[in-house]
Amino acid sequence: MSQTPIHAPIPELYVSYESAQKLKVEAGNLPSWDLTARQICDLELLMNGGFNPLKGFMSEEDYNGVVDKMRLSDGSLWPMPINLDVSEKFADGVEEGQDIALRDQEGVILAILSITDKWVPNKSHEAEKVFGADDLAHPAVNYLHNQAGAVYLGGPITGIQPPVHYDFKGRRDTPNELRAYFRKMGWRKVVAFQTRNPLHRAHQELTFRAAKEAQANLLIHPVVGMTKPGDVDHFTRVRCYEAVLDKYPQSTTTMSLLNLAMRMAGPREAVWHGLIRKNHGCTHIIVGRDHAGPGKNSAGEDFYGPYDAQDLFRANQDDIGIEMVDFKHMVYVQERAQYEPNDEIEDRDNVTILNISGTELRRRLREGLEIPEWFSFPEVVAELRRTSPPRASQGFTVFFTGLSGSGKSTIANALMVKLMEMGGRPVTLLDGDVVRKHLSSELGFSKEHRDLNIERIGYVASEITKNGGIAICAPIAPYTATRRTVREMIEAFGAFVEIHVATSLEECEKRDRKGLYKLAREGKIKEFTGISDPYEAPTNAELVVDTKDVDVDHCAHQVILKLESMGLIKA
Ligand code: PPS
Repeated sequence: MSQTPIHAPIPELYVSYESAQKLKVEAGNLPSWDLTARQICDLELLMNGGFNPLKGFMSEEDYNGVVDKMRLSDGSLWPMPINLDVSEKFADGVEEGQDIALRDQEGVILAILSITDKWVPNKSHEAEKVFGADDLAHPAVNYLHNQAGAVYLGGPITGIQPPVHYDFKGRRDTPNELRAYFRKMGWRKVVAFQTRNPLHRAHQELTFRAAKEAQANLLIHPVVGMTKPGDVDHFTRVRCYEAVLDKYPQSTTTMSLLNLAMRMAGPREAVWHGLIRKNHGCTHIIVGRDHAGPGKNSAGEDFYGPYDAQDLFRANQDDIGIEMVDFKHMVYVQERAQYEPNDEIEDRDNVTILNISGTELRRRLREGLEIPEWFSFPEVVAELRRTSPPRASQGFTVFFTGLSGSGKSTIANALMVKLMEMGGRPVTLLDGDVVRKHLSSELGFSKEHRDLNIERIGYVASEITKNGGIAICAPIAPYTATRRTVREMIEAFGAFVEIHVATSLEECEKRDRKGLYKLAREGKIKEFTGISDPYEAPTNAELVVDTKDVDVDHCAHQVILKLESMGLIKA
């Protein structure tokens, strides 16, 4: 079998096994950085050639070229900044010319970074250029401003070992493993299907058609690294993919999991996905409507036009070096009992066209409603139902936020008793004062400490929610970004119901139940919320209550009604 470019090995950044053993010992003495979940994904694809031609985290010059023009300093096309973002504190302790060890979350050294560049990026500029808007409603912009470190480090990587995965090992392939597979199978043309969602019948039909059109074999290439907050978790998705894979002819199709951390950057992301798939030995990639779309911006409009991704891909196709198969929006034609591309149905006035949107599917799962056979495969629906039982039997979190003395704890206590009276699920109250006594006793009230406190509460609540319980939280939680982080942590497992106890500062101070406002006014308590420290009122809370002139029982009842209307408890 003659080799084609897709079969030839791609350069990796790993050293030999012997050198790796030696380096590991030596690297033990280097300053070390504990990689974040996203950095682990990036590092894996840097080391295994998935991000070829990158040889490490970007230098400042490469970063500037990528942000402004989608070009590395050598002129090659690359649309996405790949940086090692670190805290100011860590950055202060290292300098250019120095090597640092990069460790996974358990402390295992995966690579060495030889720092060539250290700089403070202009994050708003990066957001505007790469994601099209400096708008926190975009998940990657939110990550950039609220999670990524303030300083970027760049430099070449020496790869020691790949990150360890304990799940679906047999389904994960490096670019070279896929290339070797294609070589062995004699596949010369391969069309990749990128996905972060479960596959239903429409996807199967579309991938079949794409493969036929390109006269190519098919690689189902789902992302299992990081996707959009709120997506179906990858464990469930992979079980769904495995169920669907049986429906494809074995000799034409394969599936492999990609440990990519998506950025939801629409057009730029599509170009990036193309380069990554080329590195994995594919000759074609399917790009659909609203590819890698992040949803709505803060004005409620789409961040990108539905075909912006296809347009940018088309304009750069020669440089990407892989062909786009543009996605046909497939719909079900009831009379013919088959899927057809929506834009090719000529007799549309005489037939019944059926479609279930992602939002509608989630609603049906949430409410335990029927999901028809024409839409999905019974095995897939069964898997999804297993992970997403109807809301009334899932865990959830009620998160009260408001000023000290606003009435959070009192309503929270009343709510807890009412929920316990109903029974069915265990209820845990994480009250502000109680948490500070047991979980956060060493913390004060600086922004850093408050954030840490709220993240701890969020972590415990997310575990409770994951395991089917009800968590009621009642801290002040004065910062919008931190509340959002907690929301995202919890929404991965169940509903997050934010309740703003909006009792005014004036009223709270008038009551001054604990005498703290008086002390704060006298300057005896520093950083006191509302007096000498900020409170950022929520703008997207599920419910707002005010305890002035309203008794606790009524407020708690309002919460109960809200939970009922969301389907979280049964009337
Ligand atoms: S935060 O901001 O969410 O971490 O605060 P939280 O954990 O809810 O703690 C608030 C309770 O601590 C008491 N207290 C203060 N609150 C605000 N600012 C300052 N500086 C402060 N110092 C002590 C106060 O009793 C709060 O309780 P609640 O139940 O909110 O009145």
